[in-house]
Amino acid sequence: MIKVLFVCLGNICRSPMADAIFQQQVKEAGLGTKIMVDSAGTGSWHVGEKAHQGTRAVLKKNNIPYNGRARQLTQRDLSDFDYILAMDESNLANIQQMAGGESDGEIALFLDYANAAGLSHVKVVPDPYYDGRFNSVYELVETGSRALLDHIRKEHNL
Ligand code: 4NP
Repeated sequence: MIKVLFVCLGNICRSPMADAIFQQQVKEAGLGTKIMVDSAGTGSWHVGEKAHQGTRAVLKKNNIPYNGRARQLTQRDLSDFDYILAMDESNLANIQQMAGGESDGEIALFLDYANAAGLSHVKVVPDPYYDGRFNSVYELVETGSRALLDHIRKEHNL
């Protein structure tokens, strides 16, 4: 099983959106038994909460189910997951600090794969928690997820 973890700050806006969208794409590709998807936040403020109303609304509009509750990133995640993908540079720095230079999985910016494939020139996923731009974040995450799935399929011959 290939395990993919999306990480943001609160685990209520961006990483749950990526979790839901990527999961849907994995399912549509018939890879649901090969790729496991989850998300977490580096912070603890929203632990146990449903995704933000803005994230839930844009997912619903696009017919993508999501029932996850926010949880905080743990040390164990760093050894459990094969891909630990940060939404922005600050999330990445927090993950790297927690890993302390040791991790079995790949720690990267989520949009690195879309950048490498030339599908996006945007480096980080902006936080809609502050400006409410959930629709544009959705488009960006959708593109990023496709590029990530392509990358994983190539790397694992799926
Ligand atoms: P997220 O957005 O990291 O995409 O889930 C945020 C959610 C909550 C807060 C900040 C960002 N907060 O400060 O509570």
